[in-house]
Amino acid sequence: MTQELQYATFLLSNFIEEVLVLDTNATIRIVPKPDWISYETITDVLHDAHTSTKQSGMLFNASSQSVEKTISRLGENGLFYVALTSNNEVVAVGAISFSKLKSEWYGKGNMCGHIKMVGVRGDYKRMGLNNRIYENLENYGFLHADVLEMNTACQNHIVLDSNERHGWKYVDCKSFPSTNYYSYVMAKWKNGCPYSERKRKLIFFFRKLSVHILKKQNGSYRFPISLIKK
Ligand SMILES: CC(C)(COP(=O)(O)OP(=O)(O)OC[C@H]1O[C@@H](n2cnc3c(N)ncnc32)[C@H](O)[C@@H]1OP(=O)(O)O)[C@@H](O)C(=O)NCCC(=O)NCCS
Repeated sequence: MTQELQYATFLLSNFIEEVLVLDTNATIRIVPKPDWISYETITDVLHDAHTSTKQSGMLFNASSQSVEKTISRLGENGLFYVALTSNNEVVAVGAISFSKLKSEWYGKGNMCGHIKMVGVRGDYKRMGLNNRIYENLENYGFLHADVLEMNTACQNHIVLDSNERHGWKYVDCKSFPSTNYYSYVMAKWKNGCPYSERKRKLIFFFRKLSVHILKKQNGSYRFPISLIKK
């Protein structure tokens, strides 16, 4: 079955439209991004969602990225889910794209779904929208990949703690040039974590340690690269 056909079957059988009724009796639909929603709108939702992280001093790409950046981060095989009010206002977004893991220990060579650019507008936070967007992204992701990954600032406890409660496991630590924090990478496997907890925790610990020793929070090396690579 082609990927397109598989996705069409998926939409018809399960998630053509998920309706979430909030406590306020407002109805929110969570759907794959329709064509009439522009990437300008998506980018605007991300900027609004990240007002809170900006105030905490974390500089996420999504807090100020251009529309072109939103599109390039999505990639050709990516998909956005959006949460729409009854007035068709976009109040939350989240994306997934796919690529093979090159050297990552937790799934080397496997197709992986990368969950990214998740954000909920200020007035709509704490209503369960993030969790519903994640459910949709995960269900879609596991149609195409056996492992999913996401990363966020190590200070972003709301996301990290919630993901841990939903079966995600810490696997790596990174420092990117475009951000001002260390990022924790979490993974979730279709058939559960294939590694023992002891092994996973040990590798995560050493990855964290080595990234902190070698790199600053802005992704630059603490020592000249020539010294490190010798
Ligand atoms: C993080 C964010 C997406 C959460 O969205 P949300 O719709 O408010 O989250 P939900 O209501 O679905 O709650 C998700 C979980 O986080 C918890 N949570 C949400 N806000 C919280 C807060 N302010 N303090 C503590 N816990 C919180 C909820 O209790 C829930 O826990 P559970 O998974 O155990 O049920 C939203 O706050 C946001 O847009 N933040 C800025 C952007 C961001 O950080 N994006 C992620 C980057 S990777």
